[in-house]
Amino acid sequence: MTRATGTRAVGFDELAALKLLALDGARRGEVKVSCGDLADRLDASNQTASRRLQALEDASFVERDLVSDGQWLTITEDGERALEREYEDYRRIFEHAGELDLHGTVTSGMGEGRHYISLPGYMRQFEEKLGYEPYLGTLNVDLDAESQRARSALEAMDAVPIEGWEDEDRTYGPASCYLCTVHSDDVSFSPVHVIVPDRTHHDESQAELIAPEKLRDELGLLDGDEVTISVEER
Ligand code: CDP
Repeated sequence: MTRATGTRAVGFDELAALKLLALDGARRGEVKVSCGDLADRLDASNQTASRRLQALEDASFVERDLVSDGQWLTITEDGERALEREYEDYRRIFEHAGELDLHGTVTSGMGEGRHYISLPGYMRQFEEKLGYEPYLGTLNVDLDAESQRARSALEAMDAVPIEGWEDEDRTYGPASCYLCTVHSDDVSFSPVHVIVPDRTHHDESQAELIAPEKLRDELGLLDGDEVTISVEER
C-alpha cells in the first residue's frame, strides 16, 4: 500500500525512515543524519537508505541540506501530517474503535454559520438526512492540541453526506456531518452533528457543531467553557 502525496507516492518503507527521523528530533528542527547510520537502523544498504531520503524529499516530507559529512534534515508540515495519519491509525487500533472524543472550548465565530445553515439547499438536506431542522448557526469549538491531531480520525468514521448545490450566483460545496453528543460539566445534549466542509480549506483547529436547539442555552455555555464532543459510529 502506498499513500498518494502530490507528485509521487510514499510507501511504508519511506514512512519507517520518516519515523526514525522524527524520533531523532527532526520534527522540531534540523538534525544531522548520515546515510550509513540510517541504513544500519533501517537494516538496509546505504543506497537504499539514501533512496528513501530522496523519496521523502521528492514528496516534500523533508527538507535537506547536504554537507560533506552527511546531511541536515527537517520534517516539513506535509511530513508531519503523514506521521499524524499513522498515529491516528494506531490510536484507532489501541483505543476504542468507533468512538472519538474531542475536547475544546466554546468560542464565537464571525456570524457566518447562521448564513450557511439557513441556505435552502443545505436546510432541505439537514431536515431529510439529519432528521431535524437545525438552529440557525454553528457553535464553534476551539480544539485543544491533542484533539486537533485526533480530528483527522473523523475521516474514517461514518458521515452523513451533505451534497453540494448551486443557485444562479455560485456553487455551494459538499460537507460531511458526524453524529455526536456534547458534554459540558454534568449536562449532555444529543443529537448534535460536527459539520465539516469536504473540499474547501477550513480551520482544522476548530469544530463546528449544528443541533436542533441552541446549544449555548441547552448546556449553559459561554465563550471559554470546556466541552467534550463524543463522536459516535452510526
Ligand atoms: O457568531 P458565530 O459565528 O459564533 O455564530 P452563528 O453561527 O451565527 O450562531 C449564532 C449563535 O448561536 C452563536 O453564539 C453560536 O455559538 C450559537 N449556537 C448555539 O448555541 N447552538 C447551535 N446549535 C448553533 C449556534
